[in-house]
Amino acid sequence: MHELMPDGGVIRKLWLHEAHIYRDHLLRLDMASRRSRFGGAVSDDHIRRHVDDSIMLDAVIHGFFVDGVLRGAAELRPIGSRFSGEAEAAFSVEKAWQSHGVGSELLSRTLLVARNRGVKFLRMLCLAENRRMQQLARKFDADLRFDFGSVIGEVTAPRPTPISVVREALTDSFSVANAMLDAQTRFFKPT
Ligand SMILES: CC(C)(COP(=O)(O)OP(=O)(O)OC[C@H]1O[C@@H](n2cnc3c(N)ncnc32)[C@H](O)[C@@H]1OP(=O)(O)O)[C@@H](O)C(=O)NCCC(=O)NCCS
Repeated sequence: MHELMPDGGVIRKLWLHEAHIYRDHLLRLDMASRRSRFGGAVSDDHIRRHVDDSIMLDAVIHGFFVDGVLRGAAELRPIGSRFSGEAEAAFSVEKAWQSHGVGSELLSRTLLVARNRGVKFLRMLCLAENRRMQQLARKFDADLRFDFGSVIGEVTAPRPTPISVVREALTDSFSVANAMLDAQTRFFKPT
């Protein structure tokens, strides 16, 4: 349910007031990762516009934190109205933390949330040459179908069950405890 990630990192959902740390994380991505994340080269201004304060009302964002700094994220956003059953997911892990299992854990959490929100159709922006994201999606073959022939992969998420809802709630309660511990660690850290 709760796993310690590389370098003692932890994964939890972002809170409403944390848009700025998500924006800073996306701005730190190296050029290749930024291109893969947004499906093309984008400017800093584009990222700032993407992460305005309303994003936290709309999206569920899981973050991977190391020493209180956001180093990876998974953004899940409904497409159209909240009840259309369609959503879009996008993933970003800063270069130094790539290939350590962070993306896999973020995708697993995102699929659970999508399932519990009644998402039937999950769209992932993925460039055709993005082998790592494709490998990552293949690990979840049982849960999703992914079409690599096109730039956009489309997946169908399974239906929620009482167990999947409880799994998400348990993960969230661990996350709150972690966030508090993290804040205390930073508070007591010598400057
Ligand atoms: C794509 C991304 C989210 C994956 O996250 P990650 O933490 O690097 O992925 P993981 O370590 O969980 O690896 C997932 C799988 O990718 C494959 N993989 C890992 N490193 C790889 C590499 N260097 N080359 C090719 N495949 C690789 C493996 O199959 C791995 O699964 P395994 O470890 O069970 O064998 C991350 O690399 C990233 O942010 N890239 C830039 C942005 C991006 O491409 N976003 C996706 C589009 S929205």
